[in-house]
Parts: sequence; structure tokens; C-alpha cells
Amino acid sequence: MEKISKTLSEQYIIYGAMGLGGDWAKDKPITEEHIEEAKAALNTAIECGITFFDLADIYKGGKSETVFGYYLKENPTLREKIIIQSKVGIHLTGAPFGSRFDFSYSHITQAVDGILHRLGTDYLDILLLHRPDPLMEREELKRAIDELFTQGKIRSLGVSNMDHHQIQLIETYTGRKIVANQLELSLLKTDFVINTVGFNNPVGNNLNFPLGALEYCMLNNVSLQSWSPLARGIYSGRALDAATDETVYKTKEIVERIAKDRNVSADGVVLAWLMKHPAKINPVIGTKNPVRIKNAMDAFKIQLTRDEWYELLVASKGVRMP
Ligand SMILES: NC(=O)c1ccc[n+]([C@@H]2O[C@H](COP(=O)([O-])OP(=O)(O)OC[C@H]3O[C@@H](n4cnc5c(N)ncnc54)[C@H](OP(=O)(O)O)[C@@H]3O)[C@@H](O)[C@H]2O)c1
Repeated sequence: MEKISKTLSEQYIIYGAMGLGGDWAKDKPITEEHIEEAKAALNTAIECGITFFDLADIYKGGKSETVFGYYLKENPTLREKIIIQSKVGIHLTGAPFGSRFDFSYSHITQAVDGILHRLGTDYLDILLLHRPDPLMEREELKRAIDELFTQGKIRSLGVSNMDHHQIQLIETYTGRKIVANQLELSLLKTDFVINTVGFNNPVGNNLNFPLGALEYCMLNNVSLQSWSPLARGIYSGRALDAATDETVYKTKEIVERIAKDRNVSADGVVLAWLMKHPAKINPVIGTKNPVRIKNAMDAFKIQLTRDEWYELLVASKGVRMP
């Protein structure tokens, strides 16, 4: 627990392994190329000083965890030095049904056993409940989580895509502290900021982030993690097309100008915007590209000014501050 508490009290970049393991289709096997690709990405992440890794049982139908497991096997001294976090609670049923969520005792316990098997480890530092399950039953959830802690299979519990009320409910149901909440927060997904200035003002209309969720996490030591923090590259090099919103082009121009002025990468500027927020948000970067992984670390080299930060926010949301 000391390793986890120490890490969670700092601000860091997490490596998100969703892209590793080849194809999403379960029937497409892992190839040598996928293993080499994962190795190159993970080697680079570790060379960059990243010690926190994010996975989920559903990523690439489990193959993301399998290739991660191969990497751990090749580097046996690594396990104790890093934080491994994975997630359970989603069934990917595929079109036309979409996802189903499942916090039942059998799903959670079996899913964790599957994760540990694929990773070739006997514990997770953090288990995240991936998305809220409206059919969650108090007794079942508690029994599953208690058993996993008692058996030493998980060392702490967190959530993903949940608001403050859901966090409180799960803490009450399980009697466990929620240590982290992983949400989509980025220069593209700015509603977590806009809602704090948009109260009682038209800029606060039609936002998709509940007021109070961020503040709850800040006040209660729930470490915030952001998924898709690079906005999948739209401000830092991904090819844009005619359908791309004008706000993206404008924001990208500002990102590029700041990157040039500060002599850092555009990826670094995009992450520095997120990391300047006092909530100490920890980006979960998902690029497999070693150059982009290294670029991400530029976020630690700069502090955006208030003017730069607001200029990016206003351009991205396409609204003036009230
Ligand atoms: N909790 C949740 O519900 C949830 C949901 C989604 C993701 N996650 C986690 O968050 C992590 C990151 O999410 P993410 O991968 O969606 O977001 P991201 O880190 O914002 O973006 C990475 C993705 O964008 C591509 N990309 C980035 N820059 C690019 C550029 N300049 N040109 C072309 N492509 C570019 C990357 O491709 P390359 O690999 O080719 O660079 C990669 O596919 C995941 O690995 C996962 O661990 C969690």
C-alpha cells in the first residue's frame, strides 16, 4: 500500500495499454509484430520514467493484458517496481447490442482471475470498476470486493466514469475507500472546467459533466485520471478533414504556437494544459508510438501561463468566458 499511496499523492503520467495486443476481434490472434510493438512502447514508457500502467479486461478482448504479461515475464524484476491497474465490469457484446455492465459477484471475481492469469501476476495494485452498473446489488458487490482483498488479489479499489454520488454509493456499499476515478478529461473534453464557471450563465448550458464531481474527488483524495488526454492527437498531428469542427483547427493553431514558443512538442502542450489544473489530473496516455510517448513527457517541462491556459480553453470550447 505504501507504493500506491506514495504514487497517488504525486502527479504523474500513466501509460494506457488499450492500444497494445493487435486487433479488437477476439478471433484475431496476437502476432510477433504485436508483441514487438508492445515491447517497444513499454520499453519507451519505462525509459521515460513511467511506472504506472492502466489496463482493462476488455482491451483487445484480453490481448492487451496478454502482451503486457509477456513483457512482465521477460522483465521479472519489474512487477514490484510498478503500479498495475486494470478494470472490470463491462461486457462488450458487439453491435447491435452495445455494451452491458456487470457488477455481479461472479462477473467481478471471474474477471479479476482472468486478468491475473493473462498478466501472470498474483495481484493488482488497483482494481477499477469500469462503468456504473445500474443493476449493481449491494451484497454481491461487497462480497466480491471483500473476497478479492482478503485473497490478496487486489490492493486498492477505484472507479471509472463515475460521478461523486456513485463514488459515495460504492464506498458505502463496499466499506472501502475509492482511491481513483478515471474520466475523459482533456483539452477537447473541457466541460469539467466550463461547468465551474458556467453556473447561472449560458456558457453552462448543455454540459456533460456533473457539477461537484471534480470537487468531491479533490476534497476526498480520490486521485483523478484522465482517459484520452491527448484527444487522440487532434491538436498534435493527427490528420484532420473537412468534417472537423472549426474550433479544433483554431485550438491546434494555438497549441502549435505555444509549442514553438516554448520549444516543446504539441503533445506536451496538450497535456500541460490538463496538468495545470489544480485537481492534479494524471493523464493516461494511449499512444503506442515511441516518439509520441517521449513527447508526452514535455508536459513536465513547461507551466502554461494563465493567458495561455484560458486562450486554449476558450478556443477549444468555442465560447467566451462570462
Ligand atoms: N476508463 C475508460 O472508460 C477508458 C476509455 C478509453 C481509454 N481509456 C484509457 O485511456 C488510455 C488513452 O486513451 P486513448 O488511447 O483513447 O487516448 P489518447 O492517449 O488521447 O490518444 C492515443 C490514441 O490517439 C492516437 N494518436 C495520438 N496522437 C496522434 C497523432 N499525432 N497522429 C495520429 N494518431 C495519434 C494514438 O495512435 P498511435 O498509437 O499510433 O500513436 C492512439 O490511438 C487508453 O490506453 C486506456 O488505458 C480508458
